[in-house]
Amino acid sequence: MTEIIHAAAELRSRVRAWRAAGEMVGVVPTMGALHEGHLSLARRARRECDRVITTIFVNPTQFNNPDDLQKYPRTLEADAALLSGVPVDVVFAPSVDEIYPEGFVTRVSVGGVSEPLEGQMRPGHFDGVATVVTKLFGMTEAHRAYFGQKDWQQLQVVSRLARDLNLPVAVVGCETVREADGLAMSSRNRRLSAPARANAPRLHAAMTAAAEEIRAGQPERQAIRDAGAAVLRAGFERVEYIELRDAETLLTSEDPGRPRRMLAAAWIEGVRLIDNIPV
Ligand code: PAJ
Repeated sequence: MTEIIHAAAELRSRVRAWRAAGEMVGVVPTMGALHEGHLSLARRARRECDRVITTIFVNPTQFNNPDDLQKYPRTLEADAALLSGVPVDVVFAPSVDEIYPEGFVTRVSVGGVSEPLEGQMRPGHFDGVATVVTKLFGMTEAHRAYFGQKDWQQLQVVSRLARDLNLPVAVVGCETVREADGLAMSSRNRRLSAPARANAPRLHAAMTAAAEEIRAGQPERQAIRDAGAAVLRAGFERVEYIELRDAETLLTSEDPGRPRRMLAAAWIEGVRLIDNIPV
């Protein structure tokens, strides 16, 4: 079974020994409730690094909704068992006090890229993410850090943060892992009833269809509008956004020379799903 470390000081001495031996250290930050998406990041880290740390910490500062935080699944034993199969070297599972001891007052806030879309819908969310990720980079001293494209805007925020603060870590973005029917894997999928689960892949299907239309030269606005309507017809109760944005800055972009990304957030049965694809 993979060893679980709770104390930052203990993790520090372990990592220092690895680094002294010239080993390359990778970290996969997570909030637990692990599925194939998370495990794919850990496997990639395993291939590319000598040592792999997976962090499991349900970070209270990135939740907008106390109920969501309270309901977040906590399955440390099962997670550690899954990680043993990769295998990873260490699971770092700090307590809230270990991350936010009394007197903690520092916030890391990334401008620009963290403001639109998720930033607008979930005020303060990316400050919470940026703060905890900065701390996890400091605590793990990892050379490489693995993040999923599933949370595309988060990946851009973390990349920007590492660059802006000269953090000595390479941020690696990994492909979104999907169910066979196209639904992006997420711990939230478990909350869906069978009929909602059957309809949920239509979000990705509508986005894919719109991206194809756009590549074929159809007017972008119309394609995006059609996708939104298709998602609502598929039983989603609300589309928060479906947008075509600059893939890196997340701003609207008319520049055909720059890569773009289609990003969406929509609610089905009270569950908020997000997805994104290249265009
Ligand atoms: P969490 O939602 O647990 O996700 C941990 C990592 O797994 C993130 O980098 C996320 O993008 C990736 N991931 C989730 N589902 C995926 C999928 N279907 N395919 C590929 N990768 C996937 O994201 C967070 O935690 C937190 O915000 C965190 C970065 C840990 C900071 O608290």
